[in-house]
Order: sequence, then C-alpha cells, then structure tokens
Amino acid sequence: MDTPEQATFYDEHPFDWIPPDSSVPITATVSRALVDLIETLDHGATVFDIGCGPGRVLGQLAARRLRCFGLDRSRVSLKLAISRYKRPGIVADNLALPLADECADVVISDGVIHHTGNPSAAFAENCRILKPNGQMYLAVYKPSGRYPWLYRYPGAAIRAGLRHAWSKPFVTIFAQLPYYLVHFARSRGRRTWSGAQNLFYDYFITPHVAFLSRSLVEEWCSERGLRVSRYDENRGGNVHCFCLRKESRAGVPRNADESAGVNDMDVVARGA
Ligand SMILES: C[S@@+](CC[C@H](N)C(=O)[O-])C[C@H]1O[C@@H](n2cnc3c(N)ncnc32)[C@H](O)[C@@H]1O
Repeated sequence: MDTPEQATFYDEHPFDWIPPDSSVPITATVSRALVDLIETLDHGATVFDIGCGPGRVLGQLAARRLRCFGLDRSRVSLKLAISRYKRPGIVADNLALPLADECADVVISDGVIHHTGNPSAAFAENCRILKPNGQMYLAVYKPSGRYPWLYRYPGAAIRAGLRHAWSKPFVTIFAQLPYYLVHFARSRGRRTWSGAQNLFYDYFITPHVAFLSRSLVEEWCSERGLRVSRYDENRGGNVHCFCLRKESRAGVPRNADESAGVNDMDVVARGA
C-alpha cells in the first residue's frame, strides 16, 4: 500500500473540472440521490467526504453549513478543497483511515473506492467509521455500458502513447483535442481545456479502475450490516449509486444525535 506522503496520480491530475466560482446548479454536477441526501441532513451530523478530491461535493456540503471533513490521498487535491471551501481536511488513505470506529453520521464516497486498488477494503473502512444507523452514499463504476470497453481498449492505446515523447503529440491531437471539443460543445462553452484534461486523465489514464456490479456491492452490504435504501442505476452513465444505511445495533438509539459532543480532534483518533 502506498503511503499518503507519496505523490499520487491525482496530485498531478486532480479531478478538477468545475470552476469553483461558477453558478452551475448543484444538480448539474452532483447526482440526484446525493442532492436529496444532502438536503435531508441535520446540521449536527458529522459528514466525511472520503476521497473528496478538490471538493466538488465538499463545496455543496459547506454551502449547506454542514459539519463536514474532506479526506484524500492527494495532498494537492485536498489543498484545493480546503482553500476553496474552508473545511478541515486530512491527507489519508481510504484503505487505512485515521479515524475512530463509528465516528461518522454520514460517509460520502463518490467515485473513489474503484480507484483505490482494493475496493472491498476501502468499502470496509467506510463501514467501520460509520455509526450504527449512519448513512453512506456510494458511487462506483458500473461493469456495464461503454466505459469499461473504452478504458480497456482505446484507453490502453492512449496510455501507451503517453509513455513516449514521440507519441504524445498524437495523443494530444487525436484523443485529447476531440475529447475537449466534445466537452466544450456539450457544456455550451463552459468546459476549460484544463478541466477537460483532468476529466480525460481520470477517464483514460488513472492507474486503478474497478467495475463493481450492483450484486457485488449488495453482497458487501449484507456482510457488513448495511441495507440499501436507494439505488440509482444512472442509465447511460458510467457510475451507479447507492444510498446505504448501517443497521442500528440493539440498544443504540436510532435517532441519537451522537455527534453533539464530538470535536474536530476526537474523530482523528486512529493512527494519527
Ligand atoms: C475521481 S476522483 C473523485 C473526487 C471526488 N470524490 C468527486 O467526486 O469530485 C477520485 C479521488 O479519489 C482519491 N483517491 C484515490 N485513491 C484513494 C485512496 N486510496 N485513499 C484516499 N483517496 C483516494 C483521489 O486522490 C481522487 O481525488
């Protein structure tokens, strides 16, 4: 396992494609299921955005004045998130979170565990920090649709092309430029070159990708005592998403506002 201190792929290519000062509505950048979850959250809830990147979701949590923390292995991405949205953050690996058991009311994992190299272990860590009756939003790549094919085949050629100085210009002209133009047109001129490049790198070059079926995620949930409260197949999209709830243990009050006495340091209890 890499240590958080090592520069990561996302240090060089943060998942940064939304102008932070833009007036793009939340529903254009965040799934409907996540918007609905965010809207129902109590202000006392402790929310962790694991693999927050430059803060696409953290910004929405901050806008609702929720008590939220960002974690990411990429120091560069995390710095962007903290400076933009003024929320605390920790450089940390999803495979060994420096957080106490059952400290989170809500865990958000949007497009992260499939990049960790060990999605089931990353999922287990997310479950570990979740309080009984806590909620998790999980979005992961689907095994169906065109993206697995695109990553494997054109993606392999693009990754090979970027390994050599002589072939890089071909990748720029025949892959990155068309990709940018499509995004520019679809976004009606809002997508910048650097935003499109960051998406392109996340899409084709990212070193770890896993495609996780609905049944596999459901199996993990039943092993860890979570139930699926909402599933969105996101037809035509690359990711599907799950709203999950951890079963409450006997004797644990379902509506306990247990976060009330927790301060910012209490949650950083493991391995810190
Ligand atoms: C596709 S981006 C998603 C960022 C953000 N969740 C969003 O939806 O905008 C994936 C993020 O996961 C982070 N990541 C990948 N592996 C990780 C790991 N093992 N631990 C923590 N973060 C990780 C990357 O640094 C990157 O910021």
